[in-house]
Amino acid sequence: MNDNETIHQAAGIIRKGGIVAFPTETVYGLGADAFNPLAVARIFEIKRRPYFNPLIVHVANPADMKKLVREIPPNVKKLIGRFWPGPLTVVLLKEEEIPDIVTAGLPTVAIRMPNHPMALSLIKKSKCPIAAPSANPFGYLSPTTAEHVREQLGDQVDLILDGGPCPVGVESTIISFFKVGPRLLRPGGVSLEEIESIIGKVEVTPIEEDRPSAPGMLPRHYAPRTPIVLHWDENDLDLHKNKNMGLLAFQEPKNHVRFYSVEVLSKKGDMREAAANLFAAIRRLDAMNLDLILAEPVPEIGLGRAIMDRLRRASQSLTSPPRGGEKREGELL
Ligand code: TXA
Ligand code: MG
Repeated sequence: MNDNETIHQAAGIIRKGGIVAFPTETVYGLGADAFNPLAVARIFEIKRRPYFNPLIVHVANPADMKKLVREIPPNVKKLIGRFWPGPLTVVLLKEEEIPDIVTAGLPTVAIRMPNHPMALSLIKKSKCPIAAPSANPFGYLSPTTAEHVREQLGDQVDLILDGGPCPVGVESTIISFFKVGPRLLRPGGVSLEEIESIIGKVEVTPIEEDRPSAPGMLPRHYAPRTPIVLHWDENDLDLHKNKNMGLLAFQEPKNHVRFYSVEVLSKKGDMREAAANLFAAIRRLDAMNLDLILAEPVPEIGLGRAIMDRLRRASQSLTSPPRGGEKREGELL
């Protein structure tokens, strides 16, 4: 079957209430008809995702927003004029018809138009907006290849569309325009600088909030099985020299020898390349049965903000207690 026929088949599955994993420019999504609550419920089951965490609704055209939201503020029009199709999600007051399961009962809905030919063609052929979270089990790294989806959810979805590796590699930037606004809920594939150049100052929500306004903005998220540590120095290398350690480096590191394995995100220090490689690089390290992954911080400019956000959520401190267990003093997780 060629791609067109496969997308046609995938659209048939969506129309009948099935689940299709599909590529976007950011990460792979796990999609269902946004107006079919039973189909959407299956997404939550497959991901083992808590029902309080709402989904992004994907459209193939800005005009498709009419069925989804009450009104579109001028700043939103400006942003989608500039960044759609692309890695920008806007949160707006929702239309009543959107099933509560999609928005977790919130009065708002998150919407984006992805910049990937397969995703756009799938939405158009399905003739409905597609509700889709990232196609990973809840709390784990987002998939940036069809193979990642197959490994983790392969037997549970009705079809996986393979569009190759995702060019952006981190999820969309989420901006809320609800009540007050604009407010950054999640840094992502469009940088804050680019957004502010169009609409001026955007409020930034710190990630340490008690009750996150985007429930998916949980402090610990995107985590691999191997502990990732972001705050470390040369002394820690000595202290833990008996451990099998991996290094997630931004550019070519000075000190290879201490590490069992090294992943370089971008040799030339290009933030876009680093973002595109991030999740796959962490996955490769995670598959090596290491005791520990040390990550190098990247500068928090442009896409660096999204990269650091994901690294912080995936990481833990060298002295934090082992997951699900008691704190053991002086021991490394
Ligand atoms: O790039 C992306 O955005 C990818 C691709 C597949 O489009 N999708 C994605 O979806 O990352 P997910 O479900 O993994 O993350 C969606 C985030 C969650 O943090 C969720 O809490 C937030 O969007 N969200 C969804 N609806 C919301 C709403 N009405 N208000 C606030 N946050 C919302
Ligand atoms: Mg996700």
